[in-house]
Amino acid sequence: MSIAKGYAWLLAAALGLSVLTPARAEGNAEAGATKAVVCTACHGTNGNSVNPEWPSLAGQNAVYISEQLKLFRAGHRNNAIMYPLSVTLTDEDIADVAAYFAAQTPTGLEADPATYKAGAALYVAGDRARKIPSCTACHGPVGRGNPGSGYPALRAQHATYTIKQLTDYAAEARYLDAAGVQQKSKHGHMMKTISKRLTAEDMQNLASYIQGLR
Ligand code: HEC
Ligand code: HEC
Repeated sequence: MSIAKGYAWLLAAALGLSVLTPARAEGNAEAGATKAVVCTACHGTNGNSVNPEWPSLAGQNAVYISEQLKLFRAGHRNNAIMYPLSVTLTDEDIADVAAYFAAQTPTGLEADPATYKAGAALYVAGDRARKIPSCTACHGPVGRGNPGSGYPALRAQHATYTIKQLTDYAAEARYLDAAGVQQKSKHGHMMKTISKRLTAEDMQNLASYIQGLR
């Protein structure tokens, strides 16, 4: 062992750091592909779900996926299906599967022609009178989200899933844990406020438009 290396060891030991197994912040998509096999049973091949109640994950940003998996694992985002699956994942598994799904391509779905136009208007411009901001501001013009800040991508998501989330935010049910305690995510308050201003018809229209975004 060189003197410099020996010194690094001493320093690391003094700081309580592990030299042999440095923590990986960035996920490994290749390792994630193997770990995600169990997930694709519901979230679909490459994260393109075919069941409208199970969200697609293809192309979702890694920051958001990781955050949500940790919220499921902690029981803070209360979901009977995702809880038992997420408790088996280590932080490294979470980083890896997040990197894997983020690197996949959404295959795209179609909007419902009957409702998407009203949804498009609200998505793009919001509604000043009702204090509804434009969705574009945070989720982007075609729903790709904001990977840097972890704002989720919405494009090509099943309308059924999107409506359930907007309804859950409005009812403050998304982060209500099994014991009935209100938990929170880093940015969940934004959607709580916005969703409470949406009618059921707005949610339907928006979800239809979002489903067709690519
Ligand atoms: C048995 C079906 C099933 C399996 C298997 C499954 N999930 Fe899920 N997943 C769901 C459902 C249903 C939801 C939506 C929960 C809700 O309505 O809040 C979900 C939600 C999610 C979300 C949140 C998506 C979003 O847009 O907020 C992530 C991330 C996720 N799952 C990742 C995974 C990972 C990673 C695995 C594998 C370790 C996995 N899931 C396995 C059914 C499943
Ligand atoms: C100020 C920024 C902001 C605006 C404006 C905004 N959102 Fe969001 N949205 C977020 C953030 C951040 C999250 C993730 C919150 C969390 O942690 O639960 C989110 C989550 C969501 C989700 C859940 C996604 C998933 O995969 O589960 C949906 C659906 C959604 N937003 C739809 C909308 C719609 C529709 C509009 C316009 C009416 C809108 N948002 C406007 C920031 C915003």
